[in-house]
Amino acid sequence: MPFYHKLGELPPVKHTTFYKPDGTSLYREELVSSKGFSGIYSTVYHHELPNSMKAYKDLKLASAELWTEAPTLYMHSDTDKHKESGNFVTARRTYLENAGCKISIAHVDEDSEIFYRNVRAAEFIFIHHGAGVLYSQFGKNPFGPGDQIVVPRGTIYRMSFEDLDQVKLVIVESDTAFEIPKHYKNDNGQMAEHAPYCERDFRPPEYTEPILEKGEYPLILKADDRYTEHTLVNHPFDVVGWDGYLYPFTFNIKNFHPKVGRIHLPPPVHLLYTTASFVVCNFVPRPFDFHEKAIPAPYFHNNIDSDEVLYYLDGDFMSRKGVVSGSLTFHPGGITHGPQPGRTEDSIGVEKTEEYALMIDTFSPLKPTTALQASLLDDYYRSWMPND
Ligand SMILES: [Fe+2]
Repeated sequence: MPFYHKLGELPPVKHTTFYKPDGTSLYREELVSSKGFSGIYSTVYHHELPNSMKAYKDLKLASAELWTEAPTLYMHSDTDKHKESGNFVTARRTYLENAGCKISIAHVDEDSEIFYRNVRAAEFIFIHHGAGVLYSQFGKNPFGPGDQIVVPRGTIYRMSFEDLDQVKLVIVESDTAFEIPKHYKNDNGQMAEHAPYCERDFRPPEYTEPILEKGEYPLILKADDRYTEHTLVNHPFDVVGWDGYLYPFTFNIKNFHPKVGRIHLPPPVHLLYTTASFVVCNFVPRPFDFHEKAIPAPYFHNNIDSDEVLYYLDGDFMSRKGVVSGSLTFHPGGITHGPQPGRTEDSIGVEKTEEYALMIDTFSPLKPTTALQASLLDDYYRSWMPND
């Protein structure tokens, strides 16, 4: 999505004859497009029909169960408290969700040959721990710690890991696309000089040879909380070439170039992506504010119409005590939050932070699930008490 990309073989003119080496049989052209035919798209050329399927069945995979009696409260979750087993699809546990956003954690400890397609949501996959390759019909996206992979809605993909000992993913689903904020681009769509990243910081898919096997290929389709398995007869990665703007892309959090102010700058300077219903931000190491009397810790704030979710990756997060790598905090909109007692004073005179964190701010209320309930640390809401 950040820019036009092409891989492999393409015919000189789209929607015209494009023959295989035998000179008589055609490659199959597939347009993968958003917003009907009006949004970004890619044109993909397959060896065989991309939708030949011989069977389907309903799958009963665990879906999120809402914590219906959840109080309105500041919450702190230890996302490593209960590690569920599973592959890159079945290990996911949703912690918070609303109609436009689902936030899940996956401790992946099983390899899998399955193919997966989320037909209702784009996916943002944060690699907290682990390394491997995401394969799709667009090629391969190698990944390692700190990588953030955006997978467009409808992409068929699978994930392969180097070592399953310690794989942890944070997955955010969105019913609309993850977009580069408009104000980061100039009128021609190029990343502006003031943006916190540029085109070179993004990694599009790399070329892989088309796989021409035939057989039975299980493809799991996720539509909200319902799962259906299609049995494909052509290997889904039989693509000889493609071009366009729609494809999985990777951006590592260490490539986010932070902005620093004379006095405290609010979270919009940490903005990574926008969707129609939430934003994703990256907090990274940076020098603190340079006014001689600056208070680097944030002031108390009440975001009256946004829920805030922070996932802590590494370092000492400046405004929160008690959080560690793997902590997730949830601050519902409409109630005030800010630094715990002592954190404001402690921040004065500090010159830099080494924190890494991921933030999701939603414009509609999030609903906690029983997975969040089961991993809660009981006393977080008391952490603003003077003597605690
Ligand atoms: Fe906040």
